[in-house]
Amino acid sequence: MQIRLDKYLADMGVGTRSEVKQYIRKKQVQVNGSCPSGASQKVDTKKDRVLFQGLEIQYTEKEYYMLHKPQGCVSAVTDARHKTVLDYITGSRRKDLFPVGRLDIDTEGLLLVTNDGALSHHLLSPGRHVPKTYYAKVSGEVGAGDAARFLEGLDIGEDKPALPARLDILSKSPLHGEGREGSWVSEVEVTVVEGKFHQVKRMFEAVGKKVLYLKRVSMGSLALDGTLKPGEYRALTENEVQGLWQGPYMHP
Ligand code: URA
Repeated sequence: MQIRLDKYLADMGVGTRSEVKQYIRKKQVQVNGSCPSGASQKVDTKKDRVLFQGLEIQYTEKEYYMLHKPQGCVSAVTDARHKTVLDYITGSRRKDLFPVGRLDIDTEGLLLVTNDGALSHHLLSPGRHVPKTYYAKVSGEVGAGDAARFLEGLDIGEDKPALPARLDILSKSPLHGEGREGSWVSEVEVTVVEGKFHQVKRMFEAVGKKVLYLKRVSMGSLALDGTLKPGEYRALTENEVQGLWQGPYMHP
């Protein structure tokens, strides 16, 4: 791809467009071993070798990261009060990263962070039904009746019922201790094909239960890398990126 030299440097976080123009004027930038003619000189992002203050600046057009989102940060680009998910992506030079969709501040797990608007649109389009699977701890004894209601499509207070969702019960255990007699906690996995605000929490509320802990474990073909601790991230492989374009998209 051929782009202007000042855009190349600004995209890679060397400085603002006006700062990089200054650097070019002050001869702090070299292209293939020579001083460029000016900020508007075209460079080939794949072939040309661009140095800033003697250090090579390689161009990456699109970046894709899998973040294990921790609790306590918001799925936004900026926020006046809280840490954002971008604060955890410390190794990127790009200034145009954003999270694909949202997880609540108290939800953990898989979050895709990229600057690829086309892929984000592809994954979030409501008609595409990209499945998202969550592990949850839920108060109460989740049973087969709840799973049947999830599959029918629950009324969560919107114009239309939620689309059918799959609910797998992993375990149920009674709570012990004073005042807790008769209380249960259930571990479940839920797969939804929409991304409505507080969707999983509202689905459990609709069956009279409360989500105590929520973690996203997969989105489409992408599963949370089990080696990532909350707050850690890694770049996606090319296969993982291709997989996200390909599916699966379906009702559970
Ligand atoms: N459903 C929720 O209730 N919260 C999330 O963060 C994601 C899905």
